[in-house]
Amino acid sequence: MSTYLEAPVETERRPLSIAITVARLALIGVALVVVAGAFAYLGGWLSPNNLTPARFTDAFERVDGVHAGFRRNHAKGVGVSGVFESNGNGARFSKAAVFHPGRVPVVGRFSLSGGQPDVADGADAVRGLGLQFNLPDGEVWRTAMINLPVFPFRTPEAFYQRLVASKPDPNTGKPDPAAVQAFLDRHPEIVQAMNVIKGQPLASGFDNSTFHGLNAFRLVNSTGSSVPVRWVLTPMQPFEAASTASSVQDKNYLFDALIAQIHRQPLRWQLILVIGQPGDPTHDATVAWPAGRERVDVGTLTLDRVDAEDTSAATDINFDPLVLPAGIAPSDDPLLSARSAVYSQSFTRREGEAKQPSPITPADVHRGD
Ligand code: HEM
Repeated sequence: MSTYLEAPVETERRPLSIAITVARLALIGVALVVVAGAFAYLGGWLSPNNLTPARFTDAFERVDGVHAGFRRNHAKGVGVSGVFESNGNGARFSKAAVFHPGRVPVVGRFSLSGGQPDVADGADAVRGLGLQFNLPDGEVWRTAMINLPVFPFRTPEAFYQRLVASKPDPNTGKPDPAAVQAFLDRHPEIVQAMNVIKGQPLASGFDNSTFHGLNAFRLVNSTGSSVPVRWVLTPMQPFEAASTASSVQDKNYLFDALIAQIHRQPLRWQLILVIGQPGDPTHDATVAWPAGRERVDVGTLTLDRVDAEDTSAATDINFDPLVLPAGIAPSDDPLLSARSAVYSQSFTRREGEAKQPSPITPADVHRGD
């Protein structure tokens, strides 16, 4: 009896369970489409005009080519190492261990801007210095600085558009002057920044260059109060102006001089914190803060060893400016997160490639040893 009673019930349920199964499959399908769409959106495939880290890195590659294993910007360089000796003056502003009195080991890399690892050294190529401070308990602080007093670009988009406009025209081998001019007309802040940059005397080498962090950060002290900051490395080697003579220099003359100097004696810089006042722009690296801001000498960087990229620990470091210890925090500068994302993209590409030997070889670096 019960089987007769159950039978009609079963036949009524079957279409219902099929409908539920179909609905479930449809839901799973919708979820998969949403997930795939989210990946496509984040990857930039659904938004061809959006600037993504991959597009930015592609632009560096279009301008300078792909050089397997090398950085897509600041490709030419050598590794260095030494110590930072803090005098304790920074502890008033930041609880970061790097500002406690004492010494921490440092690994770094001097570089020239651009994506060509074998470019000839030139006096007006932008000089870079990436540093990693190895703090107690495994904390690190990374910063990448250049020898310009301001950055030419306020936003990542402006930098990207400049790269696109500077791509050499296949017919002339040079950037299209009309495209460059049209770009500058849209960005008067770049013209102003370039005037500031041209007004700064150019040092003869890496050793006597001032390196600027340019982006603003925030220092947080042990009571939790915070101040805006920019940092600068000022050389303890005497200033000498870059030669304006048009004589042809050796292809690696800046790096050769740096290598010879470090072999002769350690090179030193003072780390200066420039403390911002309320109202000083923290989101605009094209503008210098007014003169007269408090400048605090927080210690001395000593670099006493140089290594070729092929053997230096710095080669496999991504000098991402957002790798910060407790006590140093990012500001609202839009360049910071863009730098972090594009450096990561460049790092991922170069670490996945078989690296070609560096043009400055271990033999070049250790000739005087
Ligand atoms: C949106 C702005 C910027 C972009 C997209 C950008 C892009 C890059 C890329 C792709 C690299 C190579 C990263 C790697 O493979 O490890 C690099 C390296 C470097 N950048 Fe930037 N950069 C920007 C702004 C700046 C600024 C403002 C400074 C200086 C304050 C700077 C200084 C350096 C230095 C010194 C290096 C070489 C570091 C090293 O030796 O590894 N960059 N940049």
